[in-house]
Amino acid sequence: MAKAPPAALLAALSALRGGLRRLLLATVPASVGVIELGFGAWLAQALAVAVRLGIPDQLRDGPLTAQEVAARVGSHPGATYRLMRALAGQSVLKLRRDGRFALTRTGRALVSGDQSGVASMIAFIGHPAHREHWSHLEYSVRTGAAAAEKVRGMPFFSYLDTNPELAQVFNDAMTGSSAVAIENAVPAYDFSGSKVIVDVGGGHGALLADVLRRTPGARGVLFDLPEVATGAAAALAAAGLASRCDVEGGSFFDAVPAGGDIYLLKTVIHDWDDERAVAILRNIRGAIAPDGRVLLLEMVLPEGAPDHVGLLLDLEMLLSPGGQERTRGEYADLLSQAGFRVHRVVSTASPMSIIDARPR
Ligand SMILES: C[S@@+](CC[C@H](N)C(=O)[O-])C[C@H]1O[C@@H](n2cnc3c(N)ncnc32)[C@H](O)[C@@H]1O
Repeated sequence: MAKAPPAALLAALSALRGGLRRLLLATVPASVGVIELGFGAWLAQALAVAVRLGIPDQLRDGPLTAQEVAARVGSHPGATYRLMRALAGQSVLKLRRDGRFALTRTGRALVSGDQSGVASMIAFIGHPAHREHWSHLEYSVRTGAAAAEKVRGMPFFSYLDTNPELAQVFNDAMTGSSAVAIENAVPAYDFSGSKVIVDVGGGHGALLADVLRRTPGARGVLFDLPEVATGAAAALAAAGLASRCDVEGGSFFDAVPAGGDIYLLKTVIHDWDDERAVAILRNIRGAIAPDGRVLLLEMVLPEGAPDHVGLLLDLEMLLSPGGQERTRGEYADLLSQAGFRVHRVVSTASPMSIIDARPR
């Protein structure tokens, strides 16, 4: 992955993109602008299907006709052409004069194994079970409650337990999005001197593995639900870190492993409403060393409503686990209720910030 530009430059670019988006809307009648926004739902599904079929992977080594792609992935040739043509219209693919399709710069990010890990997130966004949750967004907006829980009759993470295929897609998406955090957030923080780093709700351990590699003197503890912890143990062993890392299964609403001097929580607190988020943080307060640090890796929302990816992610949090994205002030308030104070917030070159909190 190319070296990311500094956070301040990215903020300026983001403001510029917001301005361009408004300008783009101003170039068409309002109704056309609105319908184009609505078509975003279809485009997301088209992207997800391309990823699920492995179409970008087929184009990795060079352009192919839709027929050649269809033969390789086992899909209908005519329908595959229509899907690829639609994606070419959105600059994800390019339809060449010779009738073959090629990946554009954007499309290359969808090849599996791309360091951005974005393909796995697209696959999750377009997973039929996940789309079903989104089709009940109205319920969440009317009630403030998680649509996934209404649709499944149980909380989102409990449902994942019952649907191993979706769980795999979800965990892959989390690992994939960790790649961006790892690339940009981990180097932005000095972990040296820490002895025990506990990753709470650490998923399959991609973040912890990278932090441990950069912090040779430290040991790690990965903590997650028992089923997820099993997957994490295998992934950490495969990364050659089994001897430096313990894996513990359990619920952070009961307790978290004690004695860490750093507690990492990447995109965990945003899964929960205030009451449950404070419960997790209080359990960490009870377990952390007196001079320890809690590091929340989260998209800290800007005040107001500028163009920011976190505002849509906030809707995902509302309807899937029943959580929310928060501003700096809202995180400070949660942490304070759990006995922490915000020491500083480190911006990174990804939308993710590191909220560094210390016991009060
Ligand atoms: C949004 S994912 C983030 C995973 C990981 N930190 C990452 O960024 O890739 C939230 C994680 O919290 C875990 N989790 C959910 N409920 C939990 C609970 N009660 N106790 C421990 N972990 C839990 C999930 O299994 C999942 O791995």
